[in-house]
Amino acid sequence: MAPRRKKVYEGKGKILYEGPEPGTFVQHFKDDATAGNGARHEVFEGKGVLNNRLSEFFMSGLNAIGVPTHYIRTLNMREQLVRQVEMIPLEVIVRNYAAGSMAQRLGLEEGVQLPRPIVEFCYKDDRLGDPLVPEEYITAFNWASQQDLDDIVSLALRVNDFLSGVMHGVGIRLVDFKIEVGRIWDNDYPRLVVADEISPDSCRLWDIETGRKLDKDVFRRDLGSLTDAYSEVARRLGVLPSVGTHRMKPTLIN
Ligand code: TMP
Repeated sequence: MAPRRKKVYEGKGKILYEGPEPGTFVQHFKDDATAGNGARHEVFEGKGVLNNRLSEFFMSGLNAIGVPTHYIRTLNMREQLVRQVEMIPLEVIVRNYAAGSMAQRLGLEEGVQLPRPIVEFCYKDDRLGDPLVPEEYITAFNWASQQDLDDIVSLALRVNDFLSGVMHGVGIRLVDFKIEVGRIWDNDYPRLVVADEISPDSCRLWDIETGRKLDKDVFRRDLGSLTDAYSEVARRLGVLPSVGTHRMKPTLIN
């Protein structure tokens, strides 16, 4: 049978298809989880549905307060329509508390509050394991201009304020998160927007009372059920899909 639509890109957790209108993609959330740059791989039934809902919730909230994102609308349980962007080849990480690679690098105890939110950049290259890079590298190798970097930092800090507030409201600490940024052109005028996804795959989320981890570290560190953790975040935010996640099949759009 001929494929119904063209796959543009397949990553570890998502697939991009050509969209129904020029300048759009359909972003499909898979159930796959990987860690250690693909060294570990497992499938968690329902994760894609949860991440689609959560990313919709965060991206549409950002759009509503004037922080531009690639998100246009949700198409079905696993897919959303997004704008095509020129991806900046960086992972933009914002940290509020020490954890993960920063805690390791600096010998800090996980959970220590940082003096202020810290933004850092990793160069997106799986072969190299997405290395942390200084701004000097980014501008020298022309991955982004200094103006882009200034805009990316202010975008990332606005996302941080929004996400921290939303999560705090449901008893969750936003320890850190990663976003990716793309460039869109509106009548020859370039604009940077939040792209990719915002979900517990790309954040560290700890219950404020108990410290329970509600993010991908549950998988990375073998701490229990990943879908239970993500469902808890969705439940608290009031965005739990109404149908049981384990039964749902992806619905294709025409
Ligand atoms: P790190 O402590 O491992 O550097 O991760 C910081 C944050 O960025 C954490 O919330 C996880 C997220 N992240 C990703 O989403 N993808 C990645 O490839 C990396 C390295 C981190």
